[in-house]
Amino acid sequence: MGIDPAGQVVVITGSSSGIGAAAARRLAARGATVCLLARREAELEAVAAAIRAEGGDAHPYPVDLTDEASTRAAVERVLADHGRVDVLVSNAARSIRRPIVDSLDRLHDHERVMAINYFAAVRLIHLVLPSMLATGRGHVVISSTLSTQVPIPLFSAYLASKSALESYVRSLSAELGHRGITTSTVHFPMVRTEMSGGTEIYRAMSMMSPDEAGRWIERAVVSRPSRITSAFGVAGETSMALLPGIVTRATAPFFRRMDRNLARRAAAGDVHE
Ligand SMILES: NC(=O)c1ccc[n+]([C@@H]2O[C@H](COP(=O)([O-])OP(=O)(O)OC[C@H]3O[C@@H](n4cnc5c(N)ncnc54)[C@H](OP(=O)(O)O)[C@@H]3O)[C@@H](O)[C@H]2O)c1
Repeated sequence: MGIDPAGQVVVITGSSSGIGAAAARRLAARGATVCLLARREAELEAVAAAIRAEGGDAHPYPVDLTDEASTRAAVERVLADHGRVDVLVSNAARSIRRPIVDSLDRLHDHERVMAINYFAAVRLIHLVLPSMLATGRGHVVISSTLSTQVPIPLFSAYLASKSALESYVRSLSAELGHRGITTSTVHFPMVRTEMSGGTEIYRAMSMMSPDEAGRWIERAVVSRPSRITSAFGVAGETSMALLPGIVTRATAPFFRRMDRNLARRAAAGDVHE
């Protein structure tokens, strides 16, 4: 059931690696035309070539999404090539893991993360919306995280940017749902990609595979729920809605202990690849 991706024009940002590349492969295998946006041209070409080798329809559009003129030009090329955008998967992002006390003179952490995770995402949505409104239908999927549902330490800049985008797409659904615009927020748990690989101690953590994460995006495109999440995410959100102070105080020592355990296991070579 749901909406058949076959024949749909799907723009996927951050598709040169990780979850975006896996989602592109899955959607192309179901007949979607996938437009791949990210900066690394060679990686985008490789993802597109692998999809084409399996009979899929993939088109790389190398672009730095923090650059307004380049993003505008990329969207113009997508529209010229394919005539419309049916689905936008806003997945490109960067993450920073840094304690707040080590960030007091690093406001640029927030500026850099917001530039790609929030402003670039909103800019792209604004650029594709006219095409979606003209056809009377459009779906926007955002890659977010379980960590906006629970009080996770050490990722303040990253989580603020993700929460901002979640709030934006809630407004988008509320304002333009009656004109055919729908949104899905995907709350991923940890996924084994270049992004999570940037933190050494996370090698000791068991994680979702990029392919399984790609399946969550595929589900968002086909079934179009307003969100996809996990039982842990729902429990976190519910307990934070009811008892935010108690839950934050009670979980903080758990997360500190978890980091110490992961560091010990990673140092001992107890790692998941
Ligand atoms: N991995 C996890 O544990 C996890 C958990 C929860 C949520 N997520 C979310 O899932 C999404 C995908 O992340 P991932 O884990 O698959 O990591 P990833 O492999 O590092 O993917 C990030 C993607 O963003 C692109 N990107 C970054 N800056 C860009 C820019 N300025 N312009 C264009 N593209 C840019 C990168 O491509 P280029 O470098 O080629 O530009 C890359 O394709 C992100 O939104 C992330 O926040 C990940």
